[in-house]
Amino acid sequence: MDLIVKNGSVVTPSETFVADIGVSGGKIVAIGKDLSDPKATVVDAGGKYVLPGAIDVHTHLAMPFGGTVSADDYESGTRAAACGGVTTVFDYAIQRKGKGIVETVSERRKMAEPGACVDFAFHCAITDLNGGALLDEFPAAVEYGVPSFKCFMVYKKEGMMVDDGTLAKILQKSKEAGTLTNVHAENPDVIDVNVAKFLAEGKTSAWYHYLSRPEYVEAEADVRAIHWAKSMDAPLYIVHLANKEGVDAVTKARDEGYEIYAETCPQYLHFTSEVYKREDGRNFVCSPPMKGAESQAALWAALKRGDISVVATDHCPFNQAEKDWGKDNFTKIPNGCAGIENLYPFMLDAANTGKISFQKAVEVCAANPAKIFGCETKGSLAVGKDADIVIYDPAKKFTISTSNMHSKYDHTIWEGVSLKGYPVQTYLRGALVYDNGKFVGTPGAGQFVKRKGRPV
Ligand code: URP
Ligand code: ZN
Ligand code: ZN
Repeated sequence: MDLIVKNGSVVTPSETFVADIGVSGGKIVAIGKDLSDPKATVVDAGGKYVLPGAIDVHTHLAMPFGGTVSADDYESGTRAAACGGVTTVFDYAIQRKGKGIVETVSERRKMAEPGACVDFAFHCAITDLNGGALLDEFPAAVEYGVPSFKCFMVYKKEGMMVDDGTLAKILQKSKEAGTLTNVHAENPDVIDVNVAKFLAEGKTSAWYHYLSRPEYVEAEADVRAIHWAKSMDAPLYIVHLANKEGVDAVTKARDEGYEIYAETCPQYLHFTSEVYKREDGRNFVCSPPMKGAESQAALWAALKRGDISVVATDHCPFNQAEKDWGKDNFTKIPNGCAGIENLYPFMLDAANTGKISFQKAVEVCAANPAKIFGCETKGSLAVGKDADIVIYDPAKKFTISTSNMHSKYDHTIWEGVSLKGYPVQTYLRGALVYDNGKFVGTPGAGQFVKRKGRPV
């Protein structure tokens, strides 16, 4: 064996037990008591938790958006991921009119490969069916290792929105192609009406970003997407769910037996719409916006019951000068916030302070993302899986600040948030990439994860 992690509390979605983990050739080869091998590096994890590396299935690295490009590129974003215990990052490759899916993804893959510090996968966000040709490409995309497609139900002006007819065609095709359809659910027309009204009234602060996209704007689109998925008996994955009515619709559909998944993000679990009243409210502008306390409570309850299956970040940071474009007009603020390095520490703090169990944190940050999105070698600590391992010290105190993060952004919405417990080491396929505050991995060592399509 190359590595033995000894005496840690090993966490799986169903149990926590003290054991040693043996690693050889980047894979977990043994889990048991008293493992030994004179050739192995031995790491004592006594008193610590040993967890699977998290899988952040929702990021936007180097994304052209809002008149600029998101601040983290593939190297800095995946470096930050490693330092937060994330060992696989999913990025959204945005398909543009005339381009194919494999063409779009392989371009982004070429951008990612030289700097990737952890493993990476792609979803493709479809913006145009190219007269229907794109639907015929679904099997080739699955074969390439990209069996999930996103539909933005918003961002008309940005040229990324798909209408209901296109969404319906994608859902229908997904059943025979073995793909999963992800949706960003908000109602674009109602947003436009609200925005025009507020601007005409001179209401331009970040608070009006929230009021132009309040709970009902998101809920209507959640219900609509679920309706189409149910009608076509197609699986559906709702990204960054943030409102209570949407949670209720997901819960009902799942109770009825439909394959509907929901993802939420740490920012919706921690902040409420009150942040938009702050002087720096523009820094929190993302879509959908943070919602009220009732929605937040519904998200936590759904997470505990299992009706929210995944927590991911929607990492899409912009620098302060760019956020400042919208100081006097909320529509000019690039939408998106940082989070890739905060996902696992935040969810593990929730476990460490008794809000959820450690098993639940592992389920929603690692095991479910791997299962839902076809990462066969990732997401759990078991013999045969990749040795993507995080050692977590439950006693370590940590206060988040831009200065102790590993990204390229110049501010974070998480500034000053204190956590009980923090990851101390991250291993990517058996190689140490993060050690007590420092990135120690190798840019370019991250590999493309070829995912498996759904059964058809
Ligand atoms: O505000 C956000 N969420 N920006 C990134 C793009 C998206 O909608 O996911
Ligand atoms: Zn979105
Ligand atoms: Zn997003």
